[in-house]
Amino acid sequence: MRRLFVAGNWKMNTNLASGKELAKGVAAEAQRLGDAIDIAVCPPFVYLSSVKAELAGSKVQLGAQNTWFAAPGAFTGETAVEMLKDIGCSWVILGHSERRQLLGEKDELINKKIAAATSEDLGVIFCVGELLEDRQAGRTETVLETQLSGGLANLDAAVLGQIVIAYEPVWAIGTGVTATPEQAEGAHAFIRGWLTKQYGAKVADSVRILYGGSVKADNAEALMSLPNVDGALVGGASLTTAQFAPILQAAA
Ligand code: G3H
Repeated sequence: MRRLFVAGNWKMNTNLASGKELAKGVAAEAQRLGDAIDIAVCPPFVYLSSVKAELAGSKVQLGAQNTWFAAPGAFTGETAVEMLKDIGCSWVILGHSERRQLLGEKDELINKKIAAATSEDLGVIFCVGELLEDRQAGRTETVLETQLSGGLANLDAAVLGQIVIAYEPVWAIGTGVTATPEQAEGAHAFIRGWLTKQYGAKVADSVRILYGGSVKADNAEALMSLPNVDGALVGGASLTTAQFAPILQAAA
């Protein structure tokens, strides 16, 4: 059985005070839910340490939204994996469509970052997903296959133990349009099938595949009860405890 995992991607939101308040709220909800699921919050870089302090004693894990692939050195504006580990991060989100689209991140760069993170035991939430035009043209599976094989190139099966895949159809991110349960299950089953071909059934069955894209309190349960959906990567609805708590409850 795969343990459900719900992560909140705060993106470039909150300020110091509201981020700390939100962390406190998530920690309190996690405490109430006990040990049923894994929970993470991924605040902006500048608030990571302050949020970590609010999570002290809580099982809520901390994630960053990006990393660089090289060891500390002359990389202005970048953050090394060992720095993220140093301040208590357990996860890093890589391959998010906003970074692919707005910052031009390609599969090759994402692959280097995944390799760097996993080589230092930092968990990776690896995002993949198709554009609306890809889906309309029947290219969803081709896009997913390209992103998966590019992002995971040259990584052996053992590394998959540190990776969670997030299927995020780009047309569903921040739009209020959610994939239907059929669309989500279809893509997740395709991803698991691809993992099976590459790494064998035992590994593929152990990898958690999260759904992301306008997850809200009213659709969370239907999505997370699908056979191949093992949790959610939540953007907008992770920004208030009032909206995030019911999503956590739906998973628990
Ligand atoms: O990383 C999270 C996803 O991009 C989903 O964002 O829940 O605001 O649609 P959203």
